[in-house]
Amino acid sequence: MAVQINPSILSADFARLADEAKSVSGPEGADWLHVDVMDNHFVPNLTLGVPIVESLARATDTPLDCHLMIEDPDRWAPQYVEAGAGSVTFHAEAAAAPVRLAREIRAKGARASMALKPATPIEPYEDLLPELDMLLIMTVEPGFGGQAFLDIMLPKIRRTRELISKHGLQLWLQVDGGVSADTIERCAEAGADVFVAGSAVYGATDPAEAVRSLRTQAAA
Ligand code: DX5
Ligand code: ZN
Repeated sequence: MAVQINPSILSADFARLADEAKSVSGPEGADWLHVDVMDNHFVPNLTLGVPIVESLARATDTPLDCHLMIEDPDRWAPQYVEAGAGSVTFHAEAAAAPVRLAREIRAKGARASMALKPATPIEPYEDLLPELDMLLIMTVEPGFGGQAFLDIMLPKIRRTRELISKHGLQLWLQVDGGVSADTIERCAEAGADVFVAGSAVYGATDPAEAVRSLRTQAAA
């Protein structure tokens, strides 16, 4: 299970996005840039949309991992693939037709991913897993960076890893929220292999070093 570290630009300086993306790129740098799209309806916060994703995709070689915290992803998610995202995550709680949507994202050429809020169980979605390239387990309530990691999500990460193994699937298991030097080892031990880190990377004096050090910890 290769470890991947995806810095979240939610904690970056939005006026300097291209530079902030560059600060974590390179051979030992970010595997993906995590881009949090919020619509002020699905979550109580507003960030950015398709035009900024388009610009960012042109400004960096690091592939974009777009996390859509929006209502009606069935309508909007395909536009993020067209904007240049390499991976698009929609929320299970918001999608009207998750299977159709995952197939559409894949057909347009991106990796399809589905996210679960803390109170959403994995079990009802077991049969959908083969339609996905990644599952995202939120380890905070979505909406803001810098929140405390929810330890109570560790059993869900463990159960999801077991389901992935039971079905012999290749999908990646991402964790997002409060992932830091203090919590990443617990997530890795529970079975996560893709780690989103916002404040732990962009709040550090040296973001590139923070990525390297998180990777070492997760792989230990
Ligand atoms: C929260 C977002 C996260 C956020 C994580 O709703 O989905 O991606 O940027 O920030 P940290 O790592 O600071 O918890
Ligand atoms: Zn996110």
